[in-house]
Amino acid sequence: MTDAVIRARDVRKRYGRTEALRGVDVEVVRGEFVGLAGVNGAGKTTLIKCLLDFLSLDAGTIEIFGVPHREPRSRAKLAFLPERFSPPYYLTGTDFLRYLLRLSGETYREGAVQAMLAALDLDPAALARAVRTYSKGMTQKLGLAGAFLSQRDLYVLDEPMSGLDPKARALVKRQIASLRDRGATLVFTSHALADVEEVCDRMIVLHRGVRYFSGTPRSLCDHYGERSIEQAFLKCIEGPAHGRHNDNAQAHAADRR
Ligand SMILES: Nc1ncnc2c1ncn2[C@@H]1O[C@H](COP(=O)(O)OP(=O)(O)OP(=O)(O)O)[C@@H](O)[C@H]1O
Ligand SMILES: [Mg+2]
Repeated sequence: MTDAVIRARDVRKRYGRTEALRGVDVEVVRGEFVGLAGVNGAGKTTLIKCLLDFLSLDAGTIEIFGVPHREPRSRAKLAFLPERFSPPYYLTGTDFLRYLLRLSGETYREGAVQAMLAALDLDPAALARAVRTYSKGMTQKLGLAGAFLSQRDLYVLDEPMSGLDPKARALVKRQIASLRDRGATLVFTSHALADVEEVCDRMIVLHRGVRYFSGTPRSLCDHYGERSIEQAFLKCIEGPAHGRHNDNAQAHAADRR
């Protein structure tokens, strides 16, 4: 039995003339927390959309829990929060959570929902209102609440901290940390490298559709001789030759660990 939760090999995707992914390999093992980092347009969301079969691959293969990603059952144990989470505007918060939990095969438990709202600092009174009346951060908290309540084995969160205030960011990180206790696996994207450093076992740097680095945040700093992860990240993406080398050698070694 394999420990690989995600195994993506040589994934390629273009939009017209834009090569969004140029042969990306990713392997994530059970219980691992992996952060995808990269500048705007690097290909992070495209990789996630390919994983979820929202986009067809031009080339390459992806397996989730050992099952080809095009088979719906490969995603049965997966929770996903999109980059731009916008629930149907006419639903109330309660409607949305009931709907999502039913889709996930989970029961709507009032106690668990209230506890999750408190854990994410979302006003319980808001649940009775239509989601179109929510602020950006409130909407994001509702999406996160749905994801965390769905009790999956794999969480794929595209910029989970986007639009959140500092208190909420800290609370979300607490929820993310609690996923470890359940042995869950996490893949998330973030532009806040400090969050990646804090939350992840491993980070993958994508740049121009190529994987430039895969390893611990610490090893990124060590490799580039920088104390700050931001500076190490900059050096990583500024050096194409280095990046390529990393992609082929060190990155694969890190993936095999
Ligand atoms: N639907 C689309 N049609 C055409 N090009 C697209 C489409 N979606 C993404 N792209 C292009 O693919 C490349 C990768 O985009 P992607 O959204 O994957 O980047 P990202 O790393 O998620 O960026 P961000 O940090 O801004 O979210 C970019 O050049 C983008 O312009
Ligand atoms: Mg994106």
